[in-house]
This record gives sequence, structure tokens and C-alpha cells, in this order.
Amino acid sequence: MIIAVDGPTASGKGTIAKALAAHFGLPLLDTGLLYRAVGRQVELAGGNPDDPATALAACNFPPALLNDDSLRTEAAGGYASRVSVHPEVREALYQRQRAFALQPGGAVLDGRDIGTVIAPEAEVKLYITASVAARAHRRWLEMTGRGLDVALADIERDIAARDARDMGRADAPLKAAPDALVLDTTHFAREAAIEAAIKAVEARAAAH
Ligand code: DC
Repeated sequence: MIIAVDGPTASGKGTIAKALAAHFGLPLLDTGLLYRAVGRQVELAGGNPDDPATALAACNFPPALLNDDSLRTEAAGGYASRVSVHPEVREALYQRQRAFALQPGGAVLDGRDIGTVIAPEAEVKLYITASVAARAHRRWLEMTGRGLDVALADIERDIAARDARDMGRADAPLKAAPDALVLDTTHFAREAAIEAAIKAVEARAAAH
């Protein structure tokens, strides 16, 4: 069984994908990390993420970079979003994601284009979303909880900009697959959202 979990930044898709992988005993690939590694590699080299050739060269990032804490920052997310608009970058990262999706026992992948491009045949497709205000508030709670001094308005602006870039790019834009189940977590607590996702997977799996 392939489970595709797509959605915008800070929607809770990562948390939900992790919970689904644990619940159903499936391996998990956070595909955003691949784009973050490319973005970080460009940043480390002092390059311009908007230049396609520079971004493509960075797809040869050292594998150890995937475990680096520096990938988790907002800045790395911004770089990732910028390198991810280039078709050559998406193509360079395609095979690795495709192979992960096709492993014999099944897999969970979370990202932006799993249900639409990477694994259109996925048995289960979830599109996790929430209002910009709700996502900004969650991100703000998480960051201030880590002791960071950040303003809610700045986070909200960054999230809106990232949405616009991820949804507006020509190649594999972020959007719900026609056969995806849309889960709006604006008014859901974390546990309730996870429970709803597990129920949705069970229902879809039973129908197959
Ligand atoms: O999920 P994330 O925030 O770690 O992703 C960072 C950026 O990477 C996101 O803004 C767009 C890009 N991305 C993508 O284009 N396709 C994916 N499957 C995953 C991430």
C-alpha cells in the first residue's frame, strides 16, 4: 500500500505521515528533506537558488546532509521552496522518490506532489491543509517554544509567500489530486487529526 500525504507548509502533514507510518508499520520518506538538502547545499556554496544550473548541481549533495539539523530551519525551507521550482531539480530527485514508493511492502511519502506526480497510483492519497492563520499560529507556538524570538505576523507572511510559490510553480505545483481525501486541520487538535487520517486510510484500504 502506498500512502501519499501532500499539503502546504505547517499543515501537520509531517506529523500525520509519521503517525501513519508507525501505525501501519510502513517506511516513511519526508520528501521535503531532499529539497531542503539541495537548498542547503546551494546556500553552503554561496550560490543563487533561483539559478537552475546551480540548483541542479546541488542535487549531488552529500548523503550525510540529510541528517543535518540545519535543514530544519525556516531559512532552509525557503531555499528548498526556491530550488524546487526548477524542473531539472524535480527530475533529478524523481527516481529516488519513485523507488521508495515502489518498494515491495509499501510506503508512506509526504510532500507536495506525491499523489499527483511521484505516485499517482497510490491507494491512499491525503491532502492535509489548514488556514494560513492556523498554520502560522502553530509554527509560532513551536518556534517560541524552542526559545526563538519571532513575530506571528512575519511567520504568517512567510507561510503565505511559500504557499504562493509552491502552488504557483509551473512544474508539479502543490494541489490536491482529484482522488485525494482533503483533511482540513484548522479546527483539529493534533490527536484528532491523526485519528481522522488513520480512519481515512482504513476506509480507503478496505475499498481497494
Ligand atoms: O515539506 P517541506 O516544508 O520540508 O518542503 C520544503 C520545500 O520543498 C517546499 O516549500 C517545496 C519543496 N517540496 C516540493 O517541491 N515537493 C515535495 N514533494 C516536497 C517539498
